[in-house]
Amino acid sequence: MIQGEEIQRIGVLTSGGDAPGMNAAIRAVVRSCIYFGKEAVGIFRGYDGLISGDMKNLDSRSVSNIIQRGGTILKSARSAEFRTVEGRQKAYENILKFGIQGLVVIGGDGTFRGAGIFSEEYGIPVIGIPGTIDNDLNGTDYTIGYDTAVNTAAQAIDKVRDTASSHNRLFFIEVMGRDSGQIALRSSIAAGAEATIIPEKPMGVDELVRILEKGAGRKKSSSLVVVAEGGKPGHSIDLAREVNERFSYYDTKVTILGHLLRGGSPSVADRVLASRLGVVAVESLLNNKSAVMIGVVNNQINFTPFAQATSNVDNFEQELLRIANILSV
Ligand code: F6P
Repeated sequence: MIQGEEIQRIGVLTSGGDAPGMNAAIRAVVRSCIYFGKEAVGIFRGYDGLISGDMKNLDSRSVSNIIQRGGTILKSARSAEFRTVEGRQKAYENILKFGIQGLVVIGGDGTFRGAGIFSEEYGIPVIGIPGTIDNDLNGTDYTIGYDTAVNTAAQAIDKVRDTASSHNRLFFIEVMGRDSGQIALRSSIAAGAEATIIPEKPMGVDELVRILEKGAGRKKSSSLVVVAEGGKPGHSIDLAREVNERFSYYDTKVTILGHLLRGGSPSVADRVLASRLGVVAVESLLNNKSAVMIGVVNNQINFTPFAQATSNVDNFEQELLRIANILSV
């Protein structure tokens, strides 16, 4: 493994689902490279760009005026080819060809699994920055994009509430999160929804109907149920139908927020988190760290080995579940 002080050129890429704040992280990585007298190489479309050699030198101006922009100027992808030995071999050939001596990868669990294998196979130092709206990684309180996605979801649910209360309707609002219910839980509390359906604490249709009947019994003219996609995008349509078969007190509608939650200008929290992690990622490479994800826990920088960050993720906020149950009476 190359020594940190020998690293002169650092590659940066974004991988997996894009997340608001990724551009702020890219900007921090590039400007930190320049600050420490190093060169930054932007790799496009995640690992696919590393395999195809789709990359270019970045300077301070390359990352001007992007901190406030959603998405990622480097684009992103989910690379099936990088999961193959041949694909990673091609990637390494480009690492040598472009003279890259260290990598910063911004993404989620799939990104770090691939990075861990690649670093192990070729001895290339790699640092991970958690960039995903799902907040489904060990070793950090929040992933970049999560705060923005929760705010986007809560604001959308507020809007749905306006029309639900105007028409005495029951709305099921489905949010992203893959297998994590964290976006659903936090946005549901923030928007004052009557119930929250999350994979971490399954709720049967009968129990949900009981909650809704109780509200109707207290003359609630409308109700909102926030549903985590739970790895089954669109399943809230079936849930709404099942509930409506048992409980037709309200006119029932479904709104699926989907990829809306991936867009938008990053919140201040995400911009600052991304800036912190981008700087520390470059410093970590120069200080001989590798195969770790950088996070923030209780506002302190935290390093977690890739394997630990991505396996048996257990960062669900049980306390928020207790709060949601009490406040939805
Ligand atoms: O991992 C981020 C995420 O937005 C998940 O919440 C969602 O289930 C998935 O990506 C959607 O993937 P795609 O953008 O490939 O449809």
